[in-house]
Parts: sequence; structure tokens; C-alpha cells
Amino acid sequence: MPESFPPLANSDYLMNNRIKSIKAIKYGLSGEIKVNGEIYNTTMAAFGLTDAEVADVMNYITNSWGNKNLSLITEKEVSQIKP
Ligand code: HEM
Repeated sequence: MPESFPPLANSDYLMNNRIKSIKAIKYGLSGEIKVNGEIYNTTMAAFGLTDAEVADVMNYITNSWGNKNLSLITEKEVSQIKP
């Protein structure tokens, strides 16, 4: 949603910032970010997902809507990412 929620489809932020994206889904996100040239500065809450769920969500969103990611995210990788 323009100026509110950034896209996930063909999102340069998502596809080029693996760790930041995992952090966003695991811990939530606030502050200014740039996605596909557009600035967003609203807050995304943390959803209380487990590390396994964060990995599943990341593998889903990075392989949907035209996104392609062959290097799958693992629960172990998510567990090593701190706020
Ligand atoms: C200003 C930035 C952002 C805002 C305001 C925002 C807002 C939101 C909101 C409100 C939801 C909940 C939707 C619902 O409950 O139906 C959501 C879900 C989600 N957002 Fe964001 N978001 C932002 C940035 C991002 C970024 C950068 C990513 C990934 C790189 C991301 C990935 C996701 C995912 C994967 C979900 C679903 C989580 C789940 O399945 O439980 N968001 N976001």
C-alpha cells in the first residue's frame, strides 16, 4: 500500500537484504526504509513467530509473486540473528 506498507513482490529490499528482512519479520521494524525507490517510515509489529516460522515465511515470500531464492533460509540461520 503506497506510503504505508511496502511491497514484497519484486521487492529489492527483501531480495537484497536477507538479514534485515529476517530481522523485520522476527523482531518487527520501525524507522525509515527504502523499497523499490520509495521511502516508508511506518512501523511493523513483531508477530511472535518462532524461528522455524520466520524461516518458513521468508522462504515463502522470497519464492512467491515472481521472487526467486534458491538459497533457503533455515531455522538455525534465523536463531543466530539478534535484534
Ligand atoms: C514500513 C515498513 C513496513 C510496514 C509498515 C509493514 C506492515 C506490516 C503489517 C501491518 C503486517 C501485518 C499484516 C496482517 O496482520 O495482516 C505485516 C506483515 C508482514 N510483513 Fe511487513 N511491514 C513493513 C515492512 C516489511 C518488510 C521490509 C518486510 C520484509 C522484508 C515485511 C514482511 C512482512 C511479512 C512476511 C509479513 C507477514 C508475517 C506473517 O506471516 O505472520 N514487512 N507488515
